[in-house]
Amino acid sequence: MKPKLVVFTGAGISAESGIKTFRDSNGLWEEYDINEVATPQAWERNKSLVLEFYNKRRKQVLEALPNAAHFALVELEKKYDVQIITQNIDDLHERAGSKKVLHLHGEIIKSRSTVDPALIYKIKGADLKLGDKCEKGSQLRPHIVWFGEMVPLMDNAYVIAESAEIFMVVGTSMVVYPAAGLIDFTPANIQKYLIDPSEVKVNGIENLNVIREKASVGLPTLVKELLK
Ligand code: OAD
Repeated sequence: MKPKLVVFTGAGISAESGIKTFRDSNGLWEEYDINEVATPQAWERNKSLVLEFYNKRRKQVLEALPNAAHFALVELEKKYDVQIITQNIDDLHERAGSKKVLHLHGEIIKSRSTVDPALIYKIKGADLKLGDKCEKGSQLRPHIVWFGEMVPLMDNAYVIAESAEIFMVVGTSMVVYPAAGLIDFTPANIQKYLIDPSEVKVNGIENLNVIREKASVGLPTLVKELLK
């Protein structure tokens, strides 16, 4: 059996594909107010504005391509049982070819019913519009976890983190919970790596190797090492 390698990714891994991060200078949350576009209250108040915000995000994602960091994780599958847990709503891990990807915060290319969360659809084209309805007749919303909502796949992610034999963190500021707490569920004795060009605060984590590089540089180098 291949060793279980779990990778926790954030916006930084897609930055070099041209998708903006949230909290870097010039990031998305400088341009937009979270409370106006990414909460259930925002949706109740102004559905058009919320749809427009995510339509823009979707258009960018559809135009973007996976980068060297996404591809490096696919290479790892030669020797490891790789499970990616991503906070990203883009599909660049899948398009690069990674087989196991869990999206903690939803997926921009999908929509969801507002009366039955089990009804999830692939969006055709870039836009989800007011008046687009599920089979039960309710308005469709973006398949995204908004601030103030539960993270439905968090328990699955904890179980995966507990089973990790190697754990990697790539391109996340580690400030959004519960996702950021995932690393606390990994076994203390396993090797962990963190790749990010900026300083990221993680306290009390043993066996952590911090690599201060961009994902497209740090990850292919580390993957080469691990495949030796
Ligand atoms: P952030 O924008 O908070 O953090 C991005 C991280 O990527 C920072 O630590 C940067 O230093 C790093 N970074 C920037 N360029 C990089 C590069 N080329 N290579 C590697 N790292 C790089 O994004 P997240 O941590 O992903 O949630 O944000 C977490 C959640 O907050 C998102 O999933 C989203 C957001 O609000 C929802 O929308 C629910």
